[in-house]
Amino acid sequence: MTVVDDVKSRLDIVEVVSQRVALQRSGRSYKANCPFHQEKSPSFHVFPDRQSWRCFGACATGGDVLSFVMRAENLEFGEALRQLAQQTGVTLPKRGQNPREEAAHKINEDARAYFQRTLASAQGASAREYLEGRKMDKKAVEAFEVGLSPNDGESLKNHLTREGYSLEQLASAGVVRTGDDGLVHDQFRGRLMFPIRDVHGNLVGFGARTLDGSEPKYLNSQQGPLFDKSRLLYSMDRARTEVRKQGAVIVEGYMDAIAAHQAGFTNVVAQMGTALTEFQVDEIRRLTGKMTMALDQDAAGQAATLRSLDVILESFRTKVSKPGPDGSPQSADPDLRIIVMPPGQDPDDVIHRSPSDWARLVETAIPAYTFRLNAIIDQGDVATPEGKAEIVARCAPIVHLVGEGIQQASAIELLATKLGVPIDTVKAALSRPSVARRTRRPEQQRRAAATSSPFAKLDHDPIEEHCLQLLLGHPELRELAQGLRPEFFRRHENRELFSRWLDAGTGMDKDEIVASIKRSGDDEVSAQLNALLSKPVIPLDFNGRTSSLKEVTSRLEERNLRILKSEEVIRFSESPPDLEDGEHGDILRLNEQIKKNEGLRRGQVQEISG
Ligand code: UTP
Ligand code: MN
Repeated sequence: MTVVDDVKSRLDIVEVVSQRVALQRSGRSYKANCPFHQEKSPSFHVFPDRQSWRCFGACATGGDVLSFVMRAENLEFGEALRQLAQQTGVTLPKRGQNPREEAAHKINEDARAYFQRTLASAQGASAREYLEGRKMDKKAVEAFEVGLSPNDGESLKNHLTREGYSLEQLASAGVVRTGDDGLVHDQFRGRLMFPIRDVHGNLVGFGARTLDGSEPKYLNSQQGPLFDKSRLLYSMDRARTEVRKQGAVIVEGYMDAIAAHQAGFTNVVAQMGTALTEFQVDEIRRLTGKMTMALDQDAAGQAATLRSLDVILESFRTKVSKPGPDGSPQSADPDLRIIVMPPGQDPDDVIHRSPSDWARLVETAIPAYTFRLNAIIDQGDVATPEGKAEIVARCAPIVHLVGEGIQQASAIELLATKLGVPIDTVKAALSRPSVARRTRRPEQQRRAAATSSPFAKLDHDPIEEHCLQLLLGHPELRELAQGLRPEFFRRHENRELFSRWLDAGTGMDKDEIVASIKRSGDDEVSAQLNALLSKPVIPLDFNGRTSSLKEVTSRLEERNLRILKSEEVIRFSESPPDLEDGEHGDILRLNEQIKKNEGLRRGQVQEISG
């Protein structure tokens, strides 16, 4: 038995779910209002026989006890596993940092200290002047460990090799690189150095600002398992406690975050120039439901804010909020706001000019839904009835998200005013089933549906493993893997592995993909990855590989549909479907899909054998 199975076998899903949701017995299953979205009649079911759960409503997703806890507490697979292992008394195998990572870690800390000494030395005089000009005070320089990389491009390398590190170790830690001349040089030259720490305070890399106008303005450590910009928020290690207390304020850059902290706004984090990712939003949501984002007025800034906002909204729509102190789910209504910056100004400028102006900007931030609805309305066609209907449909998920209080009322009012139609018309349009259905986007759910079933007794799942081996061994198959979805994998290690493989994206070679999947390198997923990599594979030519991938994809999909269907059957045997509601259609559609899938596979098999 794997540890994941061991942990699961010691938990009863009904008990675990009951701690968070008031379940009502209903024949062979239990039901409740879904904790992951707002609804009036219960579409969330727990099946004790199968030890699974499913939301048949807007979430259209389900899974096992582990995936329930992941969603309910917004945890990643590894975190949820650790937490449940602790509760059930299962000891996870120790997979400590490997020696290579440990060295990389030490090297980065050494480099950080060296950069700080350089800034403090005679060599750092003009950089210190620059910082003064930017009004960064000594305390902030110290607290944020700002440094300077030497100009000559060799000093750090020489220093660290004297400390006993090999060039290879330095390269793998990302502090040196091989130049065009074929020689090894420092990665950063003559730049202001901002050490970047993860939420736990581990040093993972640097942001490095030019001092002489060279491009790029900021050079960051190379993206890799250690430094993954999409998962980091600058200054989160320092802001964490205040974020929990006051909510998060999100700015764009290093200088903005430092200026804010220097002025006492210690709940500020920076997203480092790109739109927010799902990981970053999860990170914040573990601490708070209140997020205020500073918006750059320029077009690029607006576009990035809109993208970030959609990631946040999607997260609130599909994941339950952090439980309150007593373990009860807190109000799921998010408090999202946008600070509209004065044109041409960064938070950095405003804060240094007048901290009270900044405080006022934060206080008077506009609700994000207003901003998002306005953007949809601006893009739509308000001149025709069809255009208006389309706008309402696109706005529906956001209106439903803000909860049923004043915010929703004013969102509806905003729509009515802008579209020039009566409020009741907007309300009626919003509750029309075709519009309400827009709120479902099951395929967007990455780590949803853990479909454990009584058949899943094996330690391994040969089909899943074969599928993953194919994908890992042949990056060119990515294009053909579009029909595969994380929820098709019922073993968590495999599902997580597949999700990370998806995240790795195109353009990486085999080794890069493996490195990106391993990330921290010390979890169940990496262990499974290693196991798969060391297992022998059946050699197949290109055609063999493509047809094999098609075959496993359709098998996995079909299995997923069958599980769904059997859950629907239990549910409908207790409470007959409401024909008006189109629920009956769901199960018919499922049957059709299963048939179609089987047909396709038969066709393929004939194609291969014939
Ligand atoms: P900005 O260009 O707004 O930088 O980029 P800034 O923080 O205001 O910097 P100053 O005030 O000119 O010193 C915002 C953030 O985007 C990332 C950095 O994290 C930066 O802080 N960025 C920007 C990069 O990673 N690379 C770049 O070339 C530029
Ligand atoms: Mn700036």
